[in-house]
Amino acid sequence: MSKPKVIVTRRWPDEVETRLAEVFDLQLNESDRPMSQDRLRAAFAQADAVFPTVSDRIDADVLGAGVQGTEPRGAEAFRAKLCGNFGVGFNNIDVVAAKARGLTVTNTPGVLTDATAELAMTLLLAVARRVGEGERHLRNRQWTGWRPTHMMGTQVTGKTLGLIGMGRIGRALAARAHLGFNMDVLFHDPTPPSTAVAKALGATACGSIEAVLERSDFVSLHTPGGAHTKHLMNAERFACMKPGAFLINTSRGDVIDEAALVQALRSGVIAGAGLDVFEAEPQATPALLEMENVVLLPHLGSATLETRVAMGMTVLKNALAFFAGETPPNRVA
Ligand code: DGY
Repeated sequence: MSKPKVIVTRRWPDEVETRLAEVFDLQLNESDRPMSQDRLRAAFAQADAVFPTVSDRIDADVLGAGVQGTEPRGAEAFRAKLCGNFGVGFNNIDVVAAKARGLTVTNTPGVLTDATAELAMTLLLAVARRVGEGERHLRNRQWTGWRPTHMMGTQVTGKTLGLIGMGRIGRALAARAHLGFNMDVLFHDPTPPSTAVAKALGATACGSIEAVLERSDFVSLHTPGGAHTKHLMNAERFACMKPGAFLINTSRGDVIDEAALVQALRSGVIAGAGLDVFEAEPQATPALLEMENVVLLPHLGSATLETRVAMGMTVLKNALAFFAGETPPNRVA
């Protein structure tokens, strides 16, 4: 039996690419440059499966499912049966269009929980203790020596962490914050964990997002992206945050209204922010780049070798199940 043809849109860790090449008729994007919408569209016409990443926009047009003003393309021009997303978030994929195309979509939950929680904690500590600012200060040869009032930050230990979203990553961060830094944890989630799970994490459920914001020294966002959470953090919600509080985001950029965030930071409504994701990646709102009280990272939440290998292997596991005629374990559409 011939091997299924698979197109992978970006380079993956060697170990995973080697394994993919053993089981599939594999086409890699050797240059690792983002594929245009036309190339993505062609990929779905040429391959049995396409493995995009969270930065590829797999919209109705790419899927040829018919967007306003365009004709749905014929079945002969659409070959793919599987879209194996390299990422847990899948708001880059129009799942309605995928379903209309009979395309199965999978993601990679679980394997990036620890790495992302680590990075959220990194941002929290970095912004509270002015790590980016301090490093720039030293590298720019501005340090004149130790003194009692130099670059005083905010202590983290014993403070209150508010989590908006208490799924896998929210819980992993709660554990680190509570057990490692003796933090009280508040959270809001429409589908909360059981009382026993929350109790083990020292976490208290709040009835609304505002109730979390009003009482937290640090607020960390752990919601999925998409229309339901777009600009969930807006000017009104920033105004609810405790004076002197910090905002951390490792979820999706558009959960924050970036223009409103700039205003909140400029006017001192909040003290600082640690951001790994942005509304218009790979661009961050230019004003943020000029601010000392923000720590900015280029979407590195899952960027450890161990995790990126595990993500690739999860895509592979889903695809092997799919091509064996089974339901992939991480099917989302
Ligand atoms: C995901 O998997 O959704 C992440 O954003 C990529 O690290």
